[in-house]
Amino acid sequence: MAQLWGGRFTKQTDQMVYDFNASISFDKRLFNQDIEGSIAHVIMLAKQGILTGEEKDSIIKGLTGIRSDVENGSLLITSKYEDIHSFVEANLIERIGDAGKKLHTGRSRNDQVALDMKLYIRSEVLTVTEHLKGLLETLFRIMEENLTTYMPGFTHMQKAQPTTLSHHMGAYFEMFKRDVLRLHDIYKRMNYSPLGSGAFAGTTYPLDRAYSAFLMGFEGPTLNSMDSVADRDYLIEFLSALSTIMMHLSRFSEEVIIWNSNEYRFVEIDDAYSTGSSIMPQKKNPDIAELVRGKTGRVYGALVSLLTTMKGLPLAYNKDMQEDKEVTFDAIDTVKKSLVLFTGMLETMKFNVKTMEVSAMKGFTNATDAADYLVNRGVPFRDAHGIIGQLVLYCLEKDTSIDALSIEELKAISPVFESDVYDAVSLKTCVEKRLTLGAPGQKAMEEVLRINREFLDQLWINEDKSPDK
Ligand code: ARG
Repeated sequence: MAQLWGGRFTKQTDQMVYDFNASISFDKRLFNQDIEGSIAHVIMLAKQGILTGEEKDSIIKGLTGIRSDVENGSLLITSKYEDIHSFVEANLIERIGDAGKKLHTGRSRNDQVALDMKLYIRSEVLTVTEHLKGLLETLFRIMEENLTTYMPGFTHMQKAQPTTLSHHMGAYFEMFKRDVLRLHDIYKRMNYSPLGSGAFAGTTYPLDRAYSAFLMGFEGPTLNSMDSVADRDYLIEFLSALSTIMMHLSRFSEEVIIWNSNEYRFVEIDDAYSTGSSIMPQKKNPDIAELVRGKTGRVYGALVSLLTTMKGLPLAYNKDMQEDKEVTFDAIDTVKKSLVLFTGMLETMKFNVKTMEVSAMKGFTNATDAADYLVNRGVPFRDAHGIIGQLVLYCLEKDTSIDALSIEELKAISPVFESDVYDAVSLKTCVEKRLTLGAPGQKAMEEVLRINREFLDQLWINEDKSPDK
């Protein structure tokens, strides 16, 4: 046990209490952020004349030394320390002596942990954005290549109207684009530094909070020291955005699983992204898609867990908040892996274009267009709807499709039909006449692709502005 406190205690902490309280097994992830925040803090302390230039230099040398020793493996982060902050400070004092004891001047672990976590999350927001960009690029390529790949569109899992693979992928493009924008918003809202808030009531030292905020690339300092140490909203927002990403990935996974099934065969997942069965030699299972769908639950779990942790907490810091870390770290790892693997699976997936097209031709996906044909020739829509309904029934009895009927058969049901009906209800016409912005017709899709290309080219991914890297 190596603790930063103990002066007012007369007894050793019970070992089980120590273990229950300790967070180093998971907050060691914040090691780099703890060093970065400490360096910014001492640079500011020296600028304000609270530390001498020599003390500052010696502390920075000590901190960077600790960092390289941890990086090269000669210094291990062990459970001898309660948390990552104690580990860094204790090692600093061991290394440079008394000057090290001044690092914590005007700082509390409460603002320190708030800062470390913010720095960590800020960079993870960008990493997740980059992974989303990778997925968007893959989707964009598939969209560009499949503007005239016809397939059935579904409502209620029933074939409804024909569309294109480009259009279907475009729906997911919009979802993941919103996810990127959500992360962007979160980044902007969270990018204020809590450092200098102390335990919760600031400090009597003349700190320059704007300066340390600037050194770490923050927009500025936070404005209420009590809120600064007690705020976990940005984590909740981030977990909510991660949950939405997983919800999108999970819906997409579900479609891939259906499309990859023996019955559909719209796609074939690459061998590298499939697994076999230990007993059934013929099997090739869509495990990646299933796992992504399955892991969605644990990311939602993280969000609900933190919301619940926070709901009854009085101001300001309470140790309950230490529970923010494990679930958040797990959610981030899960989402990053899911995004990378899903993108790889999609990138290598084969689309059975012919099977999709044949499927679109069956199942009366042109029934709406057949009704529109009659409407364009003066039949009121409600009557047209009834006539096509009868036609569908007739086709079902004969096990055929509308466009395979003879003109005599069509005329027997409505004399309005002429031979130009075949062109009007062809798959190509059904899709290509849908030209409203956002619809599957090629010209409309090309306009959307142009707008989305611009979005991808201008996609904001901020560089790390930290002076220490
Ligand atoms: N490990 C703690 C956490 O994650 C650090 C803050 C400790 N502050 C305190 N007053 N005990 O929240």
